[in-house]
Amino acid sequence: MSFRIQPSPPARPNRCQLFGPGSRPAIFEKMAASAADVINLDLEDSVAPDDKPEARKNIIQAIGDIDWGNKYLSVRINGLDTPYWYRDVVDVLENAGDRIDQIMIPKVGNAADIYAVDALVTAVETAKGRKKPITLEVIIETAAGIAHVEEIAAASPRLAAMSLGAADFAASMGMQTTGIGGTQENYYMHREGQKYWSDPWHWAQTAIVAACRTHGVLPVDGPFGDFSDDEGFRAQALRSATLGMVGKWAIHPKQVALANEVFTPSEAQVTEAREILEAMEQAKRDGAGAAVYKGRLVDLASIRQAEVIVRQSEMIDS
Ligand code: COA
Ligand code: MG
Repeated sequence: MSFRIQPSPPARPNRCQLFGPGSRPAIFEKMAASAADVINLDLEDSVAPDDKPEARKNIIQAIGDIDWGNKYLSVRINGLDTPYWYRDVVDVLENAGDRIDQIMIPKVGNAADIYAVDALVTAVETAKGRKKPITLEVIIETAAGIAHVEEIAAASPRLAAMSLGAADFAASMGMQTTGIGGTQENYYMHREGQKYWSDPWHWAQTAIVAACRTHGVLPVDGPFGDFSDDEGFRAQALRSATLGMVGKWAIHPKQVALANEVFTPSEAQVTEAREILEAMEQAKRDGAGAAVYKGRLVDLASIRQAEVIVRQSEMIDS
């Protein structure tokens, strides 16, 4: 047991991050009116190369013009392996108003990637006298990113959130699939004539959660491509929530409600957590360290587990 206290991640809801291409300004108002906690205006892979300059202009204008309410407003820049990224940062931070909260960096491979963007963000912030510090969000979606996930999570005090990007991750890892997240047809166990589908994203997700929890960063599950498959989305999101992730992307507006439902602790979960805390209070009064709740053991660790659910619920309600 380390004597260091595990740092808390930012205390804001991050249940759903709704994406939209910067080259499609007609949907910006709809994004602002959605129930997503976080909005990601995209300059990267949903924007064609020739449209990048126009998309930057659209985003700069929309940041100032649209009423984003209490949404956390993030702009996804292009990767550091492109000629676009520095202008994404400089143009957006020099010209957009104070409403922007965050820059999202895709395809990060190591801590130095964050350092480079941090240095540029810091220089523009200082030059323009920006008062509100911009936070950073990164996407782990390459072999290098997952191999260096811990140093990435520790790379900057600006770092607020980290997502798993399933599609690019699969490509970089050489995985034989074209599916974006979710169950994969050929990833199964076989026994007595039955197939049992397993979860090919499990290791990457737990590695991200561990790195994030160590360094006080929000762990987030990325896209689920088949937006006609609500049950598939829900199953993926439930697995992510069970592993400790706090939210999931929506690449279509219909996924927002699904993500919000899964990542908001249910009344039943909160009631049970509170009952466990009460059972432990009673145990303490009785001078015991463990107790029985509904026929199962609860002890001091159960308090910490229950507190995760109660705290998350209270934070979302506040
Ligand atoms: N945010 C808010 N509203 C959106 C939206 C989004 N990302 N995508 C579509 N809509 C709106 C449409 O304008 C339409 O509105 P209407 O009912 O007022 O006409 C409604 O939602 C239904 O849209 P639909 O026709 O089903 O989808 P589409 O064909 O217009 O767009 C996508 C589908 C997938 C191309 C689009 O959702 C999209 O670009 N998603 C984000 C992609 C992205 O950013 N990827 C990068 C991260 S992986
Ligand atoms: Mg990607």
